[in-house]
Amino acid sequence: MQNFTFSNPTKIIFGKAVVAKLAPEAARAGKKALFVYGGGSIKKNGVYDVLTAALEKEGVAITEHHGVKPNPALSHVRAGIRKARTRNCDIIVAAGGGSVIDEAKAIAAGAKYGGDVWDFFCGKAAIREALPLFTALTLPATGSEMNSGCVVTNEETEQKYCAQGAPLFPRVSALDPETTLTLPRAQVANGAVDSLAHLIEGYFTTKDRDNGVTDEVVHALARSITASTERILKDPADYDARASMMWSATLALNGLAACGYGGLTFINHAIEHSLSALYDIAHGAGLAIVMPAWFRHHLETDGPARLEKFGKAVFGAKTAEGTVRSFEGFFRKAGAPVRLSEAGIPASDIPRIAENAMGLIRLWGLQHEQPEIEKILRRAR
Ligand code: NZQ
Ligand code: ZN
Repeated sequence: MQNFTFSNPTKIIFGKAVVAKLAPEAARAGKKALFVYGGGSIKKNGVYDVLTAALEKEGVAITEHHGVKPNPALSHVRAGIRKARTRNCDIIVAAGGGSVIDEAKAIAAGAKYGGDVWDFFCGKAAIREALPLFTALTLPATGSEMNSGCVVTNEETEQKYCAQGAPLFPRVSALDPETTLTLPRAQVANGAVDSLAHLIEGYFTTKDRDNGVTDEVVHALARSITASTERILKDPADYDARASMMWSATLALNGLAACGYGGLTFINHAIEHSLSALYDIAHGAGLAIVMPAWFRHHLETDGPARLEKFGKAVFGAKTAEGTVRSFEGFFRKAGAPVRLSEAGIPASDIPRIAENAMGLIRLWGLQHEQPEIEKILRRAR
Protein backbone atom coordinates (compact mmCIF):
# COMPACT_ATOMS: atom_id res chain seq x y z
CA MET A 1 0.00 0.00 0.00
CA GLN A 2 1.22 3.50 -0.89
CA ASN A 3 1.49 6.25 1.74
CA PHE A 4 -1.56 8.51 1.90
CA THR A 5 -3.20 11.38 3.76
CA PHE A 6 -6.93 11.14 4.27
CA SER A 7 -8.70 14.28 5.41
CA ASN A 8 -12.35 15.12 4.91
CA PRO A 9 -13.87 17.96 6.93
CA THR A 10 -17.42 17.92 5.48
CA LYS A 11 -20.18 17.24 8.00
CA ILE A 12 -22.92 15.02 6.57
CA ILE A 13 -26.51 15.10 7.82
CA PHE A 14 -28.25 12.09 6.31
CA GLY A 15 -31.82 10.78 6.24
CA LYS A 16 -35.47 11.70 5.96
CA ALA A 17 -36.45 15.38 6.35
CA VAL A 18 -32.89 16.62 6.98
CA VAL A 19 -32.84 19.46 4.43
CA ALA A 20 -34.15 22.06 6.92
CA LYS A 21 -31.29 21.15 9.26
CA LEU A 22 -28.90 22.84 6.85
CA ALA A 23 -30.30 26.26 7.77
CA PRO A 24 -29.05 26.58 11.38
CA GLU A 25 -25.66 25.24 10.25
CA ALA A 26 -25.48 27.90 7.53
CA ALA A 27 -26.74 30.65 9.82
CA ARG A 28 -23.83 30.08 12.18
CA ALA A 29 -21.42 30.98 9.35
CA GLY A 30 -23.23 33.93 7.76
CA LYS A 31 -26.45 35.86 7.33
CA LYS A 32 -26.38 36.70 3.60
CA ALA A 33 -26.64 33.64 1.39
CA LEU A 34 -26.22 33.30 -2.32
CA PHE A 35 -28.73 30.52 -3.00
CA VAL A 36 -27.59 28.50 -6.04
CA TYR A 37 -29.87 26.06 -7.88
CA GLY A 38 -30.59 24.70 -11.33
CA GLY A 39 -33.52 24.60 -13.71
CA GLY A 40 -36.29 24.10 -11.18
CA SER A 41 -36.27 20.44 -10.05
CA ILE A 42 -36.00 21.65 -6.43
CA LYS A 43 -39.25 23.56 -6.84
CA LYS A 44 -41.02 20.36 -7.92
CA ASN A 45 -39.68 18.12 -5.16
CA GLY A 46 -40.20 20.56 -2.31
CA VAL A 47 -36.56 21.24 -1.46
CA TYR A 48 -36.84 24.90 -2.49
CA ASP A 49 -39.76 25.63 -0.15
CA VAL A 50 -38.29 23.75 2.80
CA LEU A 51 -34.85 25.30 2.50
CA THR A 52 -35.87 28.90 1.86
CA ALA A 53 -38.38 28.79 4.75
CA ALA A 54 -35.75 27.32 7.09
CA LEU A 55 -33.14 29.91 6.07
CA GLU A 56 -35.61 32.77 6.56
CA LYS A 57 -36.51 31.39 10.00
CA GLU A 58 -32.81 31.56 10.90
CA GLY A 59 -32.63 35.19 9.75
CA VAL A 60 -30.58 34.44 6.64
CA ALA A 61 -31.22 36.83 3.72
CA ILE A 62 -31.31 35.07 0.33
CA THR A 63 -30.03 36.23 -3.05
CA GLU A 64 -31.03 33.69 -5.69
CA HIS A 65 -28.70 32.49 -8.42
CA HIS A 66 -30.61 29.91 -10.43
CA GLY A 67 -30.48 28.44 -13.91
CA VAL A 68 -27.32 26.37 -13.40
CA LYS A 69 -27.08 24.04 -16.40
CA PRO A 70 -26.02 20.40 -16.34
CA ASN A 71 -22.31 20.71 -17.27
CA PRO A 72 -22.20 24.20 -15.69
CA ALA A 73 -21.01 27.08 -17.84
CA LEU A 74 -18.21 29.51 -16.97
CA SER A 75 -20.29 32.56 -17.99
CA HIS A 76 -22.96 31.60 -15.44
CA VAL A 77 -20.27 31.09 -12.77
CA ARG A 78 -18.92 34.58 -13.48
CA ALA A 79 -22.44 36.03 -13.19
CA GLY A 80 -22.80 34.30 -9.80
CA ILE A 81 -19.50 35.77 -8.60
CA ARG A 82 -20.63 39.26 -9.58
CA LYS A 83 -23.92 38.75 -7.75
CA ALA A 84 -22.23 37.39 -4.60
CA ARG A 85 -19.93 40.43 -4.51
CA THR A 86 -22.60 43.03 -5.23
CA ARG A 87 -24.87 41.62 -2.52
CA ASN A 88 -22.01 41.10 -0.05
CA CYS A 89 -22.92 37.43 0.38
CA ASP A 90 -20.98 35.77 3.19
CA ILE A 91 -22.14 32.17 2.60
CA ILE A 92 -23.26 30.02 -0.34
CA VAL A 93 -26.15 27.57 -0.12
CA ALA A 94 -26.58 25.14 -3.03
CA ALA A 95 -29.44 22.70 -3.68
CA GLY A 96 -29.39 20.20 -6.53
CA GLY A 97 -27.05 17.79 -8.30
CA GLY A 98 -23.32 17.88 -8.96
CA SER A 99 -23.60 20.70 -11.49
CA VAL A 100 -25.25 23.02 -8.99
CA ILE A 101 -22.79 22.15 -6.24
CA ASP A 102 -19.81 22.51 -8.61
CA GLU A 103 -20.94 25.93 -9.80
CA ALA A 104 -21.50 26.97 -6.17
CA LYS A 105 -17.93 25.89 -5.36
CA ALA A 106 -16.50 27.89 -8.26
CA ILE A 107 -18.48 30.95 -7.16
CA ALA A 108 -17.36 30.44 -3.53
CA ALA A 109 -13.69 30.49 -4.59
CA GLY A 110 -14.09 33.14 -7.31
CA ALA A 111 -15.80 35.59 -4.97
CA LYS A 112 -12.67 35.62 -2.80
CA TYR A 113 -10.19 35.95 -5.66
CA GLY A 114 -8.94 39.09 -7.37
CA GLY A 115 -8.33 37.49 -10.77
CA ASP A 116 -10.54 35.53 -13.17
CA VAL A 117 -12.03 32.32 -11.74
CA TRP A 118 -10.92 30.33 -14.83
CA ASP A 119 -7.33 30.72 -13.52
CA PHE A 120 -8.18 27.96 -10.99
CA PHE A 121 -9.20 25.59 -13.76
CA CYS A 122 -6.19 25.98 -16.02
CA GLY A 123 -3.61 25.77 -13.25
CA LYS A 124 -2.73 29.49 -13.17
CA ALA A 125 -3.76 30.00 -9.54
CA ALA A 126 -4.33 27.89 -6.42
CA ILE A 127 -7.53 28.15 -4.39
CA ARG A 128 -6.52 29.64 -1.05
CA GLU A 129 -9.92 30.67 0.28
CA ALA A 130 -13.61 30.38 -0.46
CA LEU A 131 -16.93 31.46 1.00
CA PRO A 132 -18.36 28.78 3.33
CA LEU A 133 -20.54 26.37 1.34
CA PHE A 134 -23.62 24.42 2.49
CA THR A 135 -25.30 21.92 0.17
CA ALA A 136 -28.53 19.93 -0.12
CA LEU A 137 -27.86 17.10 -2.54
CA THR A 138 -30.71 15.79 -4.72
CA LEU A 139 -28.82 13.53 -7.18
CA PRO A 140 -26.40 10.82 -6.04
CA ALA A 141 -23.54 10.70 -8.56
CA THR A 142 -20.56 13.01 -8.36
CA GLY A 143 -19.53 13.03 -4.69
CA SER A 144 -19.21 16.82 -4.96
CA GLU A 145 -21.20 17.14 -1.72
CA MET A 146 -18.22 15.71 0.20
CA ASN A 147 -15.16 16.49 -1.89
CA SER A 148 -13.01 19.45 -2.82
CA GLY A 149 -13.33 19.42 -6.60
CA CYS A 150 -15.55 21.17 -9.12
CA VAL A 151 -15.97 20.94 -12.89
CA VAL A 152 -16.93 23.83 -15.16
CA THR A 153 -17.13 24.21 -18.94
CA ASN A 154 -15.62 27.23 -20.67
CA GLU A 155 -18.10 27.55 -23.53
CA GLU A 156 -15.82 29.81 -25.59
CA THR A 157 -12.84 27.44 -25.64
CA GLU A 158 -14.85 24.18 -25.36
CA GLN A 159 -12.78 23.12 -22.35
CA LYS A 160 -14.40 21.18 -19.51
CA TYR A 161 -11.85 21.44 -16.71
CA CYS A 162 -11.66 20.88 -12.94
CA ALA A 163 -10.53 23.01 -10.04
CA GLN A 164 -9.58 21.59 -6.68
CA GLY A 165 -8.64 22.90 -3.27
CA ALA A 166 -9.32 22.21 0.40
CA PRO A 167 -11.38 25.43 0.83
CA LEU A 168 -13.95 23.90 -1.56
CA PHE A 169 -15.06 21.12 0.80
CA PRO A 170 -18.67 21.96 1.74
CA ARG A 171 -18.92 22.78 5.45
CA VAL A 172 -22.13 20.77 5.77
CA SER A 173 -24.13 18.69 3.28
CA ALA A 174 -27.68 17.46 3.84
CA LEU A 175 -28.50 14.19 2.10
CA ASP A 176 -32.20 13.29 2.13
CA PRO A 177 -32.80 10.18 -0.02
CA GLU A 178 -36.46 11.17 -0.42
CA THR A 179 -35.38 14.17 -2.49
CA THR A 180 -34.09 11.72 -5.11
CA LEU A 181 -37.52 10.12 -5.64
CA THR A 182 -38.27 12.63 -8.42
CA LEU A 183 -35.18 11.77 -10.48
CA PRO A 184 -35.88 10.78 -14.08
CA ARG A 185 -34.72 7.28 -14.99
CA ALA A 186 -31.91 8.63 -17.16
CA GLN A 187 -30.43 10.52 -14.20
CA VAL A 188 -30.63 7.39 -12.04
CA ALA A 189 -28.56 5.65 -14.72
CA ASN A 190 -26.10 8.54 -15.09
CA GLY A 191 -25.54 8.62 -11.33
CA ALA A 192 -24.90 4.88 -11.18
CA VAL A 193 -22.39 5.01 -14.04
CA ASP A 194 -20.57 8.04 -12.64
CA SER A 195 -20.22 6.66 -9.12
CA LEU A 196 -18.92 3.35 -10.51
CA ALA A 197 -16.48 5.31 -12.66
CA HIS A 198 -15.10 7.04 -9.57
CA LEU A 199 -14.40 3.64 -8.03
CA ILE A 200 -12.67 2.21 -11.07
CA GLU A 201 -10.39 5.19 -11.78
CA GLY A 202 -8.29 4.41 -8.71
CA TYR A 203 -8.71 0.65 -8.66
CA PHE A 204 -7.51 0.04 -12.20
CA THR A 205 -4.72 2.59 -12.46
CA THR A 206 -3.05 1.94 -9.11
CA LYS A 207 0.64 1.17 -9.32
CA ASP A 208 0.34 -0.82 -6.13
CA ARG A 209 -1.89 -3.83 -6.44
CA ASP A 210 -1.47 -5.12 -2.88
CA ASN A 211 -4.03 -2.97 -1.08
CA GLY A 212 -6.52 -5.41 0.43
CA VAL A 213 -8.59 -2.92 2.38
CA THR A 214 -9.22 -0.35 -0.35
CA ASP A 215 -9.88 -3.07 -2.92
CA GLU A 216 -12.56 -4.44 -0.58
CA VAL A 217 -14.04 -0.97 0.01
CA VAL A 218 -14.28 -0.54 -3.77
CA HIS A 219 -15.88 -3.98 -4.26
CA ALA A 220 -18.44 -3.32 -1.53
CA LEU A 221 -19.40 0.12 -2.86
CA ALA A 222 -19.63 -1.18 -6.43
CA ARG A 223 -21.90 -4.04 -5.31
CA SER A 224 -24.06 -1.59 -3.38
CA ILE A 225 -24.34 0.81 -6.34
CA THR A 226 -25.30 -1.91 -8.84
CA ALA A 227 -27.74 -3.63 -6.46
CA SER A 228 -29.36 -0.36 -5.29
CA THR A 229 -29.74 0.85 -8.87
CA GLU A 230 -31.43 -2.37 -9.95
CA ARG A 231 -33.85 -2.05 -7.02
CA ILE A 232 -34.54 1.63 -7.86
CA LEU A 233 -35.21 0.85 -11.51
CA LYS A 234 -37.67 -1.86 -10.46
CA ASP A 235 -39.32 0.20 -7.72
CA PRO A 236 -38.51 3.94 -7.81
CA ALA A 237 -40.20 4.40 -4.40
CA ASP A 238 -37.81 1.98 -2.62
CA TYR A 239 -36.46 4.27 0.13
CA ASP A 240 -33.74 1.95 1.40
CA ALA A 241 -32.34 1.45 -2.08
CA ARG A 242 -32.36 5.24 -2.62
CA ALA A 243 -30.57 5.68 0.72
CA SER A 244 -27.93 3.04 -0.07
CA MET A 245 -27.31 4.57 -3.47
CA MET A 246 -26.99 8.06 -2.07
CA TRP A 247 -24.44 7.19 0.59
CA SER A 248 -22.51 4.86 -1.73
CA ALA A 249 -22.09 7.59 -4.36
CA THR A 250 -20.82 10.00 -1.72
CA LEU A 251 -18.29 7.46 -0.41
CA ALA A 252 -17.13 6.64 -3.94
CA LEU A 253 -15.49 10.06 -4.36
CA ASN A 254 -14.78 11.47 -0.91
CA GLY A 255 -11.22 10.14 -0.77
CA LEU A 256 -11.99 6.87 1.06
CA ALA A 257 -12.09 4.60 -1.98
CA ALA A 258 -8.68 5.71 -3.23
CA CYS A 259 -6.59 5.52 -0.03
CA GLY A 260 -3.22 3.92 -0.69
CA TYR A 261 -3.63 3.57 -4.47
CA GLY A 262 -1.18 6.37 -5.22
CA GLY A 263 -1.54 6.05 -8.96
CA LEU A 264 -5.03 7.44 -9.56
CA THR A 265 -5.18 9.05 -13.03
CA PHE A 266 -8.83 9.74 -13.95
CA ILE A 267 -8.12 8.86 -17.59
CA ASN A 268 -11.75 7.86 -18.31
CA HIS A 269 -12.83 11.22 -16.95
CA ALA A 270 -10.26 13.07 -19.07
CA ILE A 271 -11.71 11.46 -22.19
CA GLU A 272 -15.33 11.87 -21.08
CA HIS A 273 -14.95 15.56 -20.29
CA SER A 274 -14.11 16.05 -23.93
CA LEU A 275 -17.40 14.35 -24.94
CA SER A 276 -19.52 16.49 -22.62
CA ALA A 277 -17.58 19.66 -23.56
CA LEU A 278 -18.12 19.09 -27.29
CA TYR A 279 -21.61 17.53 -27.33
CA ASP A 280 -23.08 18.66 -23.98
CA ILE A 281 -24.08 15.09 -23.13
CA ALA A 282 -24.55 13.99 -19.50
CA HIS A 283 -21.31 13.08 -17.74
CA GLY A 284 -22.64 9.61 -16.79
CA ALA A 285 -23.71 8.90 -20.36
CA GLY A 286 -20.27 9.87 -21.67
CA LEU A 287 -18.59 7.62 -19.12
CA ALA A 288 -20.78 4.66 -20.10
CA ILE A 289 -19.41 5.05 -23.63
CA VAL A 290 -15.75 5.52 -22.63
CA MET A 291 -15.39 2.92 -19.87
CA PRO A 292 -15.97 -0.35 -21.78
CA ALA A 293 -13.60 0.83 -24.53
CA TRP A 294 -10.98 1.86 -21.96
CA PHE A 295 -11.35 -1.48 -20.11
CA ARG A 296 -10.55 -3.36 -23.35
CA HIS A 297 -7.54 -1.10 -23.85
CA HIS A 298 -6.46 -1.69 -20.23
CA LEU A 299 -6.75 -5.45 -20.77
CA GLU A 300 -4.36 -5.15 -23.71
CA THR A 301 -1.82 -2.91 -21.92
CA ASP A 302 -2.01 -4.15 -18.31
CA GLY A 303 -3.33 -7.68 -18.54
CA PRO A 304 -6.40 -9.34 -17.01
CA ALA A 305 -5.55 -9.36 -13.27
CA ARG A 306 -7.49 -6.31 -12.08
CA LEU A 307 -10.48 -6.94 -14.34
CA GLU A 308 -10.65 -10.54 -13.12
CA LYS A 309 -10.43 -9.54 -9.45
CA PHE A 310 -13.04 -6.80 -9.77
CA GLY A 311 -15.40 -8.85 -11.92
CA LYS A 312 -15.29 -11.88 -9.64
CA ALA A 313 -16.02 -9.78 -6.53
CA VAL A 314 -18.69 -7.50 -8.02
CA PHE A 315 -20.44 -9.33 -10.85
CA GLY A 316 -19.46 -12.95 -10.31
CA ALA A 317 -17.72 -12.78 -13.72
CA LYS A 318 -15.27 -15.54 -14.60
CA THR A 319 -12.98 -13.72 -17.06
CA ALA A 320 -11.66 -10.22 -17.73
CA GLU A 321 -13.77 -9.96 -20.89
CA GLY A 322 -16.73 -11.20 -18.82
CA THR A 323 -16.17 -8.25 -16.46
CA VAL A 324 -16.26 -5.77 -19.35
CA ARG A 325 -19.45 -7.39 -20.66
CA SER A 326 -20.98 -7.21 -17.17
CA PHE A 327 -20.27 -3.46 -17.04
CA GLU A 328 -21.79 -3.01 -20.49
CA GLY A 329 -24.79 -5.13 -19.56
CA PHE A 330 -25.37 -3.11 -16.40
CA PHE A 331 -25.06 0.21 -18.25
CA ARG A 332 -27.46 -0.97 -20.98
CA LYS A 333 -29.97 -2.28 -18.44
CA ALA A 334 -29.88 1.10 -16.70
CA GLY A 335 -30.55 2.77 -20.06
CA ALA A 336 -27.17 4.42 -20.69
CA PRO A 337 -25.54 4.52 -24.16
CA VAL A 338 -22.41 2.35 -24.47
CA ARG A 339 -21.25 3.38 -27.95
CA LEU A 340 -20.58 6.77 -29.54
CA SER A 341 -23.15 5.97 -32.24
CA GLU A 342 -25.83 5.40 -29.57
CA ALA A 343 -25.29 9.00 -28.44
CA GLY A 344 -25.39 10.24 -32.04
CA ILE A 345 -21.65 11.01 -32.13
CA PRO A 346 -20.08 10.16 -35.50
CA ALA A 347 -16.85 8.13 -35.63
CA SER A 348 -15.41 10.78 -37.96
CA ASP A 349 -15.26 13.11 -34.91
CA ILE A 350 -12.82 10.84 -33.04
CA PRO A 351 -9.66 12.89 -33.85
CA ARG A 352 -11.40 16.06 -32.67
CA ILE A 353 -12.58 14.40 -29.44
CA ALA A 354 -9.10 13.00 -28.77
CA GLU A 355 -7.46 16.36 -29.47
CA ASN A 356 -9.80 18.06 -27.02
CA ALA A 357 -9.10 15.37 -24.37
CA MET A 358 -5.35 15.95 -24.79
CA GLY A 359 -5.76 19.41 -23.24
CA LEU A 360 -6.81 17.89 -19.93
CA ILE A 361 -4.41 14.96 -20.23
CA ARG A 362 -1.46 17.37 -20.58
CA LEU A 363 -2.73 19.62 -17.80
CA TRP A 364 -2.96 16.59 -15.47
CA GLY A 365 0.44 15.33 -16.55
CA LEU A 366 -0.89 11.94 -17.71
CA GLN A 367 1.32 9.79 -19.91
CA HIS A 368 -0.92 9.37 -22.95
CA GLU A 369 -0.62 10.63 -26.52
CA GLN A 370 -3.38 11.42 -28.99
CA PRO A 371 -3.04 8.24 -31.12
CA GLU A 372 -3.65 6.12 -28.00
CA ILE A 373 -6.77 8.13 -27.11
CA GLU A 374 -8.04 7.80 -30.68
CA LYS A 375 -7.46 4.04 -30.47
CA ILE A 376 -9.54 3.85 -27.27
CA LEU A 377 -12.31 5.89 -28.87
CA ARG A 378 -12.35 3.68 -31.96
CA ARG A 379 -13.21 0.77 -29.65
CA ALA A 380 -16.27 2.83 -28.60
CA ARG A 381 -17.66 3.33 -32.13
O1 NZQ B 1 -31.27 21.71 -12.98
P1 NZQ B 1 -32.30 20.97 -12.24
O2 NZQ B 1 -33.68 21.46 -12.50
O3 NZQ B 1 -32.00 20.88 -10.77
O4 NZQ B 1 -32.34 19.45 -12.83
C1 NZQ B 1 -31.25 18.56 -12.76
C2 NZQ B 1 -30.52 18.40 -14.08
O5 NZQ B 1 -31.37 18.66 -15.16
C3 NZQ B 1 -31.81 17.18 -12.55
N1 NZQ B 1 -32.05 16.84 -11.14
C4 NZQ B 1 -31.20 16.90 -10.10
N2 NZQ B 1 -31.78 16.42 -8.99
C5 NZQ B 1 -33.04 16.07 -9.35
C6 NZQ B 1 -33.22 16.33 -10.71
N3 NZQ B 1 -34.38 16.09 -11.36
C7 NZQ B 1 -35.40 15.57 -10.64
N4 NZQ B 1 -35.28 15.26 -9.32
C8 NZQ B 1 -34.14 15.48 -8.64
N5 NZQ B 1 -34.02 15.12 -7.36
O6 NZQ B 1 -30.81 16.30 -13.06
C9 NZQ B 1 -30.16 16.94 -14.14
C10 NZQ B 1 -28.67 16.67 -14.07
O7 NZQ B 1 -28.13 17.30 -12.94
P2 NZQ B 1 -26.53 17.45 -12.77
O8 NZQ B 1 -26.31 18.21 -11.52
O9 NZQ B 1 -25.95 17.98 -14.03
O10 NZQ B 1 -26.07 15.95 -12.63
P3 NZQ B 1 -24.86 15.32 -11.82
O11 NZQ B 1 -25.11 15.32 -10.37
O12 NZQ B 1 -24.59 14.03 -12.46
O13 NZQ B 1 -23.64 16.33 -12.07
C11 NZQ B 1 -22.88 16.27 -13.25
C12 NZQ B 1 -21.79 17.32 -13.26
O14 NZQ B 1 -20.83 17.08 -12.20
C13 NZQ B 1 -19.52 16.95 -12.77
C14 NZQ B 1 -19.82 16.42 -14.15
O15 NZQ B 1 -18.73 16.55 -15.02
C15 NZQ B 1 -21.01 17.25 -14.55
O16 NZQ B 1 -20.60 18.53 -14.98
N6 NZQ B 1 -18.66 16.12 -11.90
C16 NZQ B 1 -18.29 16.64 -10.72
C17 NZQ B 1 -17.40 15.98 -9.88
C18 NZQ B 1 -16.98 16.54 -8.60
N7 NZQ B 1 -17.29 17.77 -8.29
O17 NZQ B 1 -16.33 15.87 -7.82
C19 NZQ B 1 -16.84 14.67 -10.23
C20 NZQ B 1 -17.54 14.00 -11.35
O18 NZQ B 1 -16.64 13.10 -11.93
C21 NZQ B 1 -18.08 14.90 -12.40
O19 NZQ B 1 -17.09 15.26 -13.34
ZN1 ZN C 1 -17.38 11.44 -12.65
